[in-house]
Amino acid sequence: MCGICCCVGFSVEHFRKELREDLLYKLRRRGPDSSKQLLKSGVNYQCLFSGHVLHLRGVLTAQPVEDESGNVFLWNGEVFDGVQLEAEDNDTQVMFSSLSACKNESDILSLFSKVQGPWSFIYYQASSHYLWFGRDFFGRRSLLWHFNHLGNSFCLSSVGAQISGLADQWQEVPASGIFQIDLNSAAVSRHVTLKLYPWKYVSKENVTEECSNALTQTAAELPAFVSVVANEDKLYLSKPIVPLNKMLPQAPLETHCRNSSSVPHTRETLGIFLTDEHTKKVVHQFIDVLSVAIKRRVLCLVREENPASKEDLKTCNKANIAILFSGGVDSMVIAALADRHIPLDEPIDLLNVAFVTKRKPGPSVPKVKRKQQTHHEIPSEESSQGAAVVQGPGDAEAPDRVTGRAGLKELQSVNPSRTWNFVEINVSLEELQKLRRARICHLVQPLDTVLDDSIGCAVWFASRGVGWLVSQDAVRPYQSSAKVILTGIGADEQLAGYSRHRVRFQSLGLEGLNEEIAMELGRISSRNLGRDDRVIGDHGKEARFPFLDENVVSFLNSLPVWEKADLSLPRGLGEKLLLRLAAVELGLTTSALLPKRAMQFGSRIAKLEKTDEKASDKCGRLQILP
Ligand SMILES: *[C@@H]1O[C@H](CO)[C@@H](O)[C@H](O)[C@H]1NC(C)=O
Ligand SMILES: *[C@@H]1O[C@H](CO)[C@@H](O)[C@H](O)[C@H]1NC(C)=O
Ligand SMILES: *[C@@H]1O[C@H](CO)[C@@H](O)[C@H](O)[C@H]1NC(C)=O
Ligand SMILES: *[C@@H]1O[C@H](CO)[C@@H](O)[C@H](O)[C@H]1NC(C)=O
Ligand SMILES: *[C@@H]1O[C@H](CO)[C@@H](O)[C@H](O)[C@H]1NC(C)=O
Repeated sequence: MCGICCCVGFSVEHFRKELREDLLYKLRRRGPDSSKQLLKSGVNYQCLFSGHVLHLRGVLTAQPVEDESGNVFLWNGEVFDGVQLEAEDNDTQVMFSSLSACKNESDILSLFSKVQGPWSFIYYQASSHYLWFGRDFFGRRSLLWHFNHLGNSFCLSSVGAQISGLADQWQEVPASGIFQIDLNSAAVSRHVTLKLYPWKYVSKENVTEECSNALTQTAAELPAFVSVVANEDKLYLSKPIVPLNKMLPQAPLETHCRNSSSVPHTRETLGIFLTDEHTKKVVHQFIDVLSVAIKRRVLCLVREENPASKEDLKTCNKANIAILFSGGVDSMVIAALADRHIPLDEPIDLLNVAFVTKRKPGPSVPKVKRKQQTHHEIPSEESSQGAAVVQGPGDAEAPDRVTGRAGLKELQSVNPSRTWNFVEINVSLEELQKLRRARICHLVQPLDTVLDDSIGCAVWFASRGVGWLVSQDAVRPYQSSAKVILTGIGADEQLAGYSRHRVRFQSLGLEGLNEEIAMELGRISSRNLGRDDRVIGDHGKEARFPFLDENVVSFLNSLPVWEKADLSLPRGLGEKLLLRLAAVELGLTTSALLPKRAMQFGSRIAKLEKTDEKASDKCGRLQILP
């Protein structure tokens, strides 16, 4: 993960040749291994490029890179496939040389259509005075834009700078395609025209599926001197995934069990599904495609930073890969598959976050009637009310801590010779409030809801990896050094894990469920991924999302919905059914049957502060004070 930024000015007097100190600081945190600035001046404009690199593979390549023609490139991405790349290559150089070799716009589009992996980029094409930029199809890397209200400058950056007040906000660049700005004509007309090259799916039968509202969505929040237009040649990027299969069953589905409410909630039930030939085949295809995605994500990095001291490395056993770990089925399957590909002498860090209230002094009062959530209740992930159901005393353990520890035991029995570092990350109210104010609120913005606050904070503390390793005889402080963090995001969206899916299914059947799945995946860039990238990147670490691998998404999109989930079955079984079956095949046990639990409740962050808020409310705690 890197920090990239480009500020463009159309008026020499007003142009700052340095980035603001706070912006520079934030970019450096994302890319601590090298920092570089580059200024390009045209007749009518000036561009300041700023690149901050987190070194993960190949030879360290400082950014921005410039070639002999004067083109400049900033890359915050990972090429996992699609473009030829050897293990020792740096993807920045390879992407830049390919771009420099492009003869026309369609060449540029076909290059970005080919890349598999997360990216955001900024490319200055010197001969034409064009600035190109954009984010990958899912928006797995953050990129923001900010247009100065006087119209004499604009900036693109991985993270925003601190601005108090309502006007002049940074906004996320929509992941609806890539954009091109003609800097010369913008300077002359004092009007910035963003030319959009959208994503489109073209099948063998020439049926195209367009993001028809991409233009209007993008234009909605821009100032008057900025406009978005479609490119006149109707050029586009090819979507990297196949469209969602919305097929409905020909005949009424033979429900897996006539009496769904009386289905025993056990591993044996999952075992019965696996006796079906076809189901078993699909489960193994899923395991295979996910396994390859995880392999790419755990092997694409420099393993020995200091080859001279190989022996030392063995003895100090440094983990290179960490997993955001609740012990739920998503993180368990990722852990079990990562274990297949990570060298056996290397530990794996399981990051488990819990928010704790300080114990009240004095003898602890016996717990009175603690209301437990049953498996059949459906608390909404989107409202904090669900959290209030668990009226545990302050020192009770967070649900994710309990399931995390149980998950650890399962993994230890799947592979006893692996060192599994279960990192207990306890966050107090004081620490939460202090770091939210100092750092996290600046990273979460421009997102601003209660849900963004809860998840942004939980993910920030979890990915920081500062906690405790607890063993039978000792508790010792631990700081995860892993630069790569795997997260399970994308599983709930695609496999009907949210209670929203169940609500839609109950009112509108499989058709409604299909629509909900399509909608969830379509908005994941603006709802989650940019935010999570800013939050995790702040520790000089890189998030990788195996469930959003292009091949994994295409595989899941190709399946009819009933092979992914069966929401006539109870919670803990029906949602993410395919993933649960995969878990069983991987040797996992209890975790295969855990119902989906949203991070804000599992980690108890939602319980720590106000509980009477709705998740979609604007969060006052995120507001930046002048
Ligand atoms: C990688 O980067 C280094 C340093 O910038 C450069 O010397 C080398 O040629 C690059 N490798 C490739 C394959 O582009
Ligand atoms: C763009 O250039 C490539 C050669 O690099 C050529 O094959 C292609 O036909 C050109 N496309 C257009 C639309 O001019
Ligand atoms: C699809 O489009 C291509 C190029 O425009 C054309 O050659 C081909 O015949 C079309 N195929 C069908 C099935 O329409
Ligand atoms: C459903 O289960 C109940 C009790 O387990 C049983 O009495 C009933 O016959 C079952 N219904 C069907 C349709 O199998
Ligand atoms: C973390 O907090 C929980 C709940 O207060 C407590 O039981 C546990 O011992 C703490 N863990 C560490 C390592 O301090």
